[in-house]
Amino acid sequence: MLVLGIESSCDETAAAIVRGGREMVSSVISSQIETHKRFGGVVPELASREHLDKIVPVVKEAFARAGVGAREIDGIAVTQGPGLVGSLLVGLSYAKAMAFALGKPLVGVNHIEGHIYSVVFENPPIEYPAFALVVSGGHTNLFLVPEPGKYKVLARTRDDAAGEAFDKVAKMLGLGYPGGPIIERLAREGDARAVPFSVPRMGDGLPDFSFSGLKTAVSKYVRETGLQPVAEGETPAQAVKDLAASFQSVVVRSLVGTTEKLAAEHRPRTLVVAGGVACNGALRDAADAAGARLKIPVYFPSRHLSTDNAAMIAAAGTIKLQAGERADLDLNADVSLRLGNIDAEEDAARRGHIRYRK
Ligand code: KG4
Ligand code: ZN
Repeated sequence: MLVLGIESSCDETAAAIVRGGREMVSSVISSQIETHKRFGGVVPELASREHLDKIVPVVKEAFARAGVGAREIDGIAVTQGPGLVGSLLVGLSYAKAMAFALGKPLVGVNHIEGHIYSVVFENPPIEYPAFALVVSGGHTNLFLVPEPGKYKVLARTRDDAAGEAFDKVAKMLGLGYPGGPIIERLAREGDARAVPFSVPRMGDGLPDFSFSGLKTAVSKYVRETGLQPVAEGETPAQAVKDLAASFQSVVVRSLVGTTEKLAAEHRPRTLVVAGGVACNGALRDAADAAGARLKIPVYFPSRHLSTDNAAMIAAAGTIKLQAGERADLDLNADVSLRLGNIDAEEDAARRGHIRYRK
């Protein structure tokens, strides 16, 4: 089965052709980083306009690189949500028009589920039950995946996503956007024990994540020590590198510590770590070490498939198309589309107070 994937949920316009759900025939990504850089984050209005400019050439390029014609595909998979509404609508409208014009089946894909499928290209098949830790700029979720397509949220962030915390801390330190890769680079030259940040724990005892308190702790540290943000073109001081390393270390400890604890309880057979933050080398090393202790394989996407792309959307969509799922032309963007169940009682408990342990 040959599937065209289209992704436009945030600031990447992407199209890809995937064969059999696992073979990437082509993958084209047009990034808007340059557009949003000077604002220190994604500006939704600019993002949707740029998607409009890029969608046609990006899809064309995906077909050209694959050396296949539009009529040869068996279906189209498009990101339905979550994401920015103006951005999602560009990919969605284009995919619907194309499906209608070509008479091809269409399916909507949850962007978070897409991230999980980003590991299928370069790893052995996922064995179930699996654990999937999705860490990106917009999401931080740990899922139990008992079988393909079924998801239970075991832990999630109560406030900021992990990637968002990287971006905000980088902005605070004058480091530019996106913050993750810059912090990772500086952290390599810093001492992770320099600033003793602690892993936040929930007052209600649930295993959720929280990163906004950590962001406040960083800001307080900067204020109290009089640390100056790095000016453009200036070499970052050792104190900035130490702070970057200490921050990264506590984020990694929080993500991997919780995952390992829950894995010891649920005994998954594979651990998938995906999303933009999965680019992070310290996170990869820590997840690998946890996998070794748990005696389960850990699968990551290659770095170019960790951040937003359409190959992962095509891969997730292939499973749905193969199962006979079809979307109508009234398929709409869902900006807050969720993945997986959380039971009501747990959810109520989750809304309780967060206590930060010093
Ligand atoms: O998956 P993604 O491209 O977009 C969303 O769906 O959100 O993730 C982007 C996020 C950004 O917050 C970025 O700072 C973070 O991934 N990121 C990293 C690294 N590379 C990207 N975070 C930590 N370390 C990295 N090396
Ligand atoms: Zn993403």
